[in-house]
Amino acid sequence: MWFSKPKPEPEPSLFIWSDEEHSVGVSIFDQEHERLIALMGQIHLALQHKQDRHRAESLLETLIHETQAHFDHEESVMRNIDFAEREAHTAEHAALIQQANALLLKVRNGSISALAIPNFLKTWLMTHMRSMDRKYASCMRRNGLH
Ligand SMILES: [Fe+2]
Ligand SMILES: [Fe+2]
Repeated sequence: MWFSKPKPEPEPSLFIWSDEEHSVGVSIFDQEHERLIALMGQIHLALQHKQDRHRAESLLETLIHETQAHFDHEESVMRNIDFAEREAHTAEHAALIQQANALLLKVRNGSISALAIPNFLKTWLMTHMRSMDRKYASCMRRNGLH
């Protein structure tokens, strides 16, 4: 075809918790991740059904704050158990917060549409959870966290 297809919208199920897909094997952090994914789902719904860009923007701000609190929690546990990859993990947390703040700023100053948020969220924290967060599980379990 001569025209290019529009970018597909992320499926709503992407922002619905599933043990199989999202669990990192430490229940306290699974609970925190589940809450963050639920917030992402609320952002997606606000944009998909109601086109409520202001709500999406304020939910993104909440998501960034809650994600920072979650990262602080993970970092303090990693410090307590002397997790070998703590520094690289912490550096990735900082980069993720920076990326999300940059997106929020662009949405706020109008240089990017709020409709871009779900596509950003599709990979943003999800990739980190599936790779780096899964690496701390066995060390935490050895230290009595389940
Ligand atoms: Fe995490
Ligand atoms: Fe993490």
